[in-house]
Parts: sequence; structure tokens; C-alpha cells
Amino acid sequence: MSEPTATAPDAGRTRSADAASWVHVAEMKDLARRKRAQVSVGGCPIALFLVEGEVFAMDDVCTHQERSLSKGTLLNGQVICPGHQWKFDPRTGEAEDQDGRQATYAVQVTEGGSILVDPTPATPRHNSASGAAATVTADAAPVAR
Ligand code: FES
Repeated sequence: MSEPTATAPDAGRTRSADAASWVHVAEMKDLARRKRAQVSVGGCPIALFLVEGEVFAMDDVCTHQERSLSKGTLLNGQVICPGHQWKFDPRTGEAEDQDGRQATYAVQVTEGGSILVDPTPATPRHNSASGAAATVTADAAPVAR
């Protein structure tokens, strides 16, 4: 007779929401007017965008030449960089018609309206071949709350 075997509850799953170390970064009311904000997670600037009632987070430092995407424009669900008007999809971080990609981060919004971000990128950054060697630095623009 064989012993019963235990089945790991997370077997076969990708990283669960419970495994993330969520960081509180803002409140929904902070996005109400401008639909965007810059926050800091572990010293890294992250841009939040409110698109059709959903919050998305990606690197604030543009992969092209390091301008702040949170100072850009939201138009038709896309983020337009203030530097050279590259368009980014805040859901994927992909740049339209470019080879650069912003890292994206998982977001949770609590029933009370608190916005939480998982500091581990959900999708990686890909620096643009035509841009500067973009790096996120600790002395980036101040956090606007
Ligand atoms: S710095 Fe963002 S498009 Fe050039």
C-alpha cells in the first residue's frame, strides 16, 4: 500500500498575486484629474496611468532618451512621451513602430481605492537601439503625489 502524496497547491501556476510583495503607491483620487502620476517604488520612478477605469504601471523613464512618461499625454489609451512623441501601450509597455519597450508592473486596486504595485517587473524593459543607454537612476525626477 502506498502513502498518499501531497499536491502542491501552486503546482503549475505562474506567480500568484499573493506571492507578490505589493507596495502601496497612491490612491485612486490621485489619478482622478490628470489620469497619470509618478510614484517611486524602491527608489525607481514608476508612472501610473488610468485608462478606461483601469490602472497601469510602467517605467517612468522613457527607453528612448529618458524623458518622464508621467509628464506625457494620454490619448486614445496610449501614452505619448513628451520627448519625441513615441507612443506606448501602458498595458504592455510596447512602443508603437519602435523597438523599445518599457517595463510594466502588476497593479492592484483595493476596495478602498488604494493602488498597490508589485515592484518586480511583469514584463521586462527593452532599451531602444536608437536611444541612449537608458538606466533608472536614484536621482530621477521628484515624486509627484
Ligand atoms: S525620450 Fe521618449 S520618445 Fe524620445
